[in-house]
Amino acid sequence: MKVFRPRLVVMVSGNGSNLQAILDACEQGLLRAHVAGVVSSKEGVPAIARAIRSKVPVVVVAPVPNEARAAYDLRLQEVVKGFSPDIVVLAGFMRILSNNFLQEFPSQVVNLHPALPGELPGTHSIERAFAESRDNWRTHSGITVHLVPDEGVDTGPVLASEVVPIYAYDTLESFTERMHEREHFLLVETLNDLCRNFVVSQEIDSAS
Ligand code: GRF
Repeated sequence: MKVFRPRLVVMVSGNGSNLQAILDACEQGLLRAHVAGVVSSKEGVPAIARAIRSKVPVVVVAPVPNEARAAYDLRLQEVVKGFSPDIVVLAGFMRILSNNFLQEFPSQVVNLHPALPGELPGTHSIERAFAESRDNWRTHSGITVHLVPDEGVDTGPVLASEVVPIYAYDTLESFTERMHEREHFLLVETLNDLCRNFVVSQEIDSAS
């Protein structure tokens, strides 16, 4: 019997440790999905080498100077569509996607935010949480995996979230490491839930 595996497209801009967690989980059979493609907004980032090492097709869609956002998003949309994704994962993709892009993938785009729901939107969330802990009023931060229905920055229906403590003896490095470790776990676990639901709905569709 042919096992249906939802097709993931992972969008990245940098290191790609979350991409690596997804690739490893797929390879080890812990995540029943297929990474159909990786799309990077930047040339030469480590995430690209990770995709190549796993023999996953990778396309770089870097903005060209003076390119309008709408034109860039249209190019991006064509590339992502070309991979026929069931789920699009923003794993360290450092651009805000326009409504035009998102409308093409309704309820399919998932983002990973390194903070609790509604907290520390935008860039450097881990560094900002750590700085606040040193100012003595923050004892924890967290991680959120959420859907991306519109252009809101790090907002959207929450799929999963987890508190991550910040200890007095932490350094920025030790806290960052803990955050990434928990991110890798929560992202894979949440994708697994989504994929399971996806497979069930495909089976219902094909049976009816
Ligand atoms: C992660 O902390 C993610 O939450 C944020 O960007 C970072 C990407 O890390 N959106 P990596 O490229 O997956 O290592």
